[in-house]
Amino acid sequence: MTDRPFIFCHMLTSLDGKIIGNYMSIPEASTAGDVFYALAFGENPHYRHQGWLSGRVTTDDNFTRYRHPALDEHAAPVPEGDFVAVQDAEKYYVSIDPSGRLGWESPDLTYRTTHAHVLEVLTGRASNAYKAFLRKLGISYVIAGEEELDRDLLLAKLKELFGIETLMLGGGGVLNWSFVHAGLCDEISVVIAPAADGASDSPALFETGGRTPDGPRGFTLQSAEVREGGSVWLRYSIDHEKESA
Ligand SMILES: NC(=O)c1ccc[n+]([C@@H]2O[C@H](COP(=O)([O-])OP(=O)(O)OC[C@H]3O[C@@H](n4cnc5c(N)ncnc54)[C@H](OP(=O)(O)O)[C@@H]3O)[C@@H](O)[C@H]2O)c1
Repeated sequence: MTDRPFIFCHMLTSLDGKIIGNYMSIPEASTAGDVFYALAFGENPHYRHQGWLSGRVTTDDNFTRYRHPALDEHAAPVPEGDFVAVQDAEKYYVSIDPSGRLGWESPDLTYRTTHAHVLEVLTGRASNAYKAFLRKLGISYVIAGEEELDRDLLLAKLKELFGIETLMLGGGGVLNWSFVHAGLCDEISVVIAPAADGASDSPALFETGGRTPDGPRGFTLQSAEVREGGSVWLRYSIDHEKESA
């Protein structure tokens, strides 16, 4: 394994593996949601991570609400490279935003009881104006790749620059599959709610998103626990030697 953080993918799903939908509005799903939260963010969590990764759509859905960033197209050129605004945050929200689209308004966010510093992950496609916008807000950023996201470079930077030893891969499905497919996920943790809504068009735990090839992958069950409200917590490990064979 390269020198990168330990990565676990932790997600809440419906009975049919969907990660978003109307099913989330019923009590069965909210109890499962509490189980999901407690395992990775609660007072005595199973997972102790220094940051969690989210795809751009997930961030827009939950935090930036599809706002356009307030850009100054005449901003002075920013220095080359990464921008480390906060090096010792208790938690980082690692936001995959390759072309710099998210309309942040603050360098920190709150998810239930969890406070985190925003760390944007850009590529060479992000504009000078967007980087100047992040600097003005005090949001850290790293550049990982020129055109496409360079995951290995990103993970090395997260460890070296921000001390992230354990990283949660937190969705959505497109981001999750891109890391699992690349052999950059060590464990999968799924809390299944005893709920469904039958919608055909909502994303599942893993999605190619037209970005990553599909293809079969096997996982090794580590544990299966019945939790509150009829939810089930499944943990799988991923055997990287088997993957590369
Ligand atoms: N149930 C749960 O536990 C849970 C957890 C998280 C999210 N969710 C839900 O999941 C839904 C979103 O899932 P999604 O699968 O549609 O989208 P997503 O993974 O959140 O975001 C996809 C976008 O992220 C960027 N991205 C992801 N992987 C990339 C890669 N390898 N290289 C470059 N860019 C990459 C791209 O942004 P650009 O388009 O800007 O290039 C891509 O279009 C939301 O509704 C969210 O609320 C549920």
